[in-house]
Amino acid sequence: MTQDDVTEAVACTGLAYAFGDTNAVDGLDLTVAQGEVFGLLGPNGAGKTTAIRCITTLLPVPTRMVSVFGHDAASDRMAVRRLLGYVPQQLSADSSLTGRENVVLFARVFDVPRRERAARVGQALAAVGLTDAADRLAGTYSGGMVRRLELAQALVSAPRLLILDEPTIGLDPIARTGVWEHINAVRAATGMTVLVTTHYMDEADQYCDRVGLMHHGRIRALGTPDELREGLGARRRAAGAAGTDPLPTLEDVFRDIAGSGLDESSGDFRDVRSTRRTARRVG
Ligand SMILES: Nc1ncnc2c1ncn2[C@@H]1O[C@H](COP(=O)(O)OP(=O)(O)OP(=O)(O)O)[C@@H](O)[C@H]1O
Ligand SMILES: [Mg+2]
Repeated sequence: MTQDDVTEAVACTGLAYAFGDTNAVDGLDLTVAQGEVFGLLGPNGAGKTTAIRCITTLLPVPTRMVSVFGHDAASDRMAVRRLLGYVPQQLSADSSLTGRENVVLFARVFDVPRRERAARVGQALAAVGLTDAADRLAGTYSGGMVRRLELAQALVSAPRLLILDEPTIGLDPIARTGVWEHINAVRAATGMTVLVTTHYMDEADQYCDRVGLMHHGRIRALGTPDELREGLGARRRAAGAAGTDPLPTLEDVFRDIAGSGLDESSGDFRDVRSTRRTARRVG
């Protein structure tokens, strides 16, 4: 099977991953179509990052659980890696290097041919609006600039699939919009597929073609933001809610599925702490 025979950018079938007794991902079925922006949503500890690390081949999985453009993540790991760019949840830029040096490092790791490297690094930095700041130490960047730098790192290999784990956490509304505008510009130019996690429901609503709501290691609701909102509206009407209720928001859908408040059996202190740490370092 060649890459072009398959329609799915990502296909997870019964994906499972456990840390000791914790079933972080527990039978995840998920497909991301080529060219779409897919948002993986869910409360702290739902298993989003673990699922993403399986898809990126950073965590080992058995064969036939994950494929990326038809390449099996277990048996064809290098082929999968060559197709994707990844912005991890934890900050990954090195503050003691300049922006440009950080991107060069990724260009090397991702095998961008030596003679194309300088040009591709320049293009990636330009794509995220960092040309002027490229030769400053990343340690002097604001949080929004760091996140854009990480986006440039992920884009330098011209990935067919861009995977972003909370790319906008801790950013102000203007910086968040900036990150999305850069993603969308690259998408428009290249047809790249995007898989993103976010806790910002307004972002998911505005920028994602489809969203999957994950809870306890599995997808619990799936559809376009409109479908999910309309689905909850219909369930509420069927349950006898007044017909004049406003259409639910995506946040209402999230609360309906994930329940309100902290879920003690899933989100633990490690998650909350690491998310806060990320937010603080970026913010
Ligand atoms: N390295 C690890 N060692 C042990 N347990 C882990 C590890 N990473 C994740 N877990 C556990 O796996 C579960 C899923 O965690 P994961 O980080 O995938 O959630 P998440 O949906 O990304 O949450 P968040 O929204 O907070 O980023 C949690 O119960 C978490 O405690
Ligand atoms: Mg996470």
